[in-house]
Amino acid sequence: MEQYIIKGGKALAGEVTIGGAKNAALGILAAAVMTDEPVVIENLPDIRDINVMLQTMENIGAKVERLDRHSVRMCSGNISCMNVENEYIRKIRGSYYLIGALLGKYKQAQVALPGGCNIGSRPIDQHIKGFEALGAVVKIQYGLIQAEAKHLTGSHIYFDMVTVGATINVMLAAVLAEGLTILENAAKEPHIVDVANFLNSMGANIKGAGTDVIRIKGVPKLHGSTYSIIPDQIEAGTFMLVAAATKGDVTIKNVIPKHLEAITAKLEEIGVQVEEFDDSIRVVATKRLGHTQVKTLPYPGFPTDMQPQISTLLVISEGTSIVTEGVFENRFKYVDELAKMGASIRVEGTTAIIDGVDLLTGAIVSAPDLRAGAALVIAGLVAEGYTVVEQVEYIERGYEDFESKLCELGAVMEKIDANDEKAVRKFKLKAC
Ligand code: UD1
Repeated sequence: MEQYIIKGGKALAGEVTIGGAKNAALGILAAAVMTDEPVVIENLPDIRDINVMLQTMENIGAKVERLDRHSVRMCSGNISCMNVENEYIRKIRGSYYLIGALLGKYKQAQVALPGGCNIGSRPIDQHIKGFEALGAVVKIQYGLIQAEAKHLTGSHIYFDMVTVGATINVMLAAVLAEGLTILENAAKEPHIVDVANFLNSMGANIKGAGTDVIRIKGVPKLHGSTYSIIPDQIEAGTFMLVAAATKGDVTIKNVIPKHLEAITAKLEEIGVQVEEFDDSIRVVATKRLGHTQVKTLPYPGFPTDMQPQISTLLVISEGTSIVTEGVFENRFKYVDELAKMGASIRVEGTTAIIDGVDLLTGAIVSAPDLRAGAALVIAGLVAEGYTVVEQVEYIERGYEDFESKLCELGAVMEKIDANDEKAVRKFKLKAC
């Protein structure tokens, strides 16, 4: 087991480059199996969830060739197995995109029920409703989702709530269905547009991705493509918050500033200076920040995947802030960990009431999930003394080289083995 040890209190400064978007990459990798021709995917993040997905695709017969750390060539002409199940795939959420992709191409799929971060109940009824509307029979048995169809026919589907996962999954299946599919109340996240753009680059006919009505005209088959994934909105947002929390000055490169507008607006509201360029953003904080209210919502609202990080920033800002979680019902599990560091947060249902404190102090804390883990690292970077963040494997699911990117900005931190007391002593000696 590895953990981060952090000596807090340093203003971080410099430049950091953002990698490809995890949640787009999961959809795009699944979509890549839908053609027999070779596909080259660039700007793929080298993170645990993506590597698990690639391994899974190899297991079902796709040929995956690493061109470099961030590019793969895939060929799915020899997929032999529609049964996607292994001990790792259950841990990642994006595995469910293989249902839509395999169902679309082969009219059958069996995929282990998806895992992902434990942030509340995560039903998949809307995915199933969409597949059934296209003509599939869907069953859940033996821990698998089993979907089968004689053939798929386009349909008019109205999602009961805005869901990223169901929008992408049903879009995947509909691409090779016969006739027109209309998805209403579709999610508008940047990664939905990216998956749609990738599918279109393979010959699909999708219009309206990025709006709440997506129209998909089925095509008989897809062809090969070379495609570069968009930058990760949440990795970029996390570094914006790192800069703000440490009263730093960080230029975040390889971003799409438009995707960060909800975060930028909140930061400016509490006193952070944000300067936007074509494909980078500079975040500067020089004074203690103010309080605000945040409610997480589907895009273009404030992203739920940034909720733990903004809450952590508000913990050390002046006054009382209110953060309401509007997407998942159980996303405040990190609050007890922050309390160990001196935070004053009261959670009532899906709302956190945060009374800003002057100082956080280092403690041993444990990452309960991916984004909350990143938030605890931010807390460690501003806290007085030493913080140990356990369970960094959660963080590594979604952030590539997190600690080395932070160290490049001046953070004093290291990843060490949990039982290596010598390494802890060495770190403390070096850090003081
Ligand atoms: C995706 C992201 C996750 C992000 C979330 C919201 C991936 C791999 N994960 O998760 O990082 O936090 O979008 O931006 O891309 N719901 C249902 N029934 C369904 C589907 C969803 O009730 O069939 C509910 C969920 O419980 C949740 C809400 O709809 O309350 C939104 O979920 P959804 O957008 O689907 O999230 P995920 O795709 O799981």
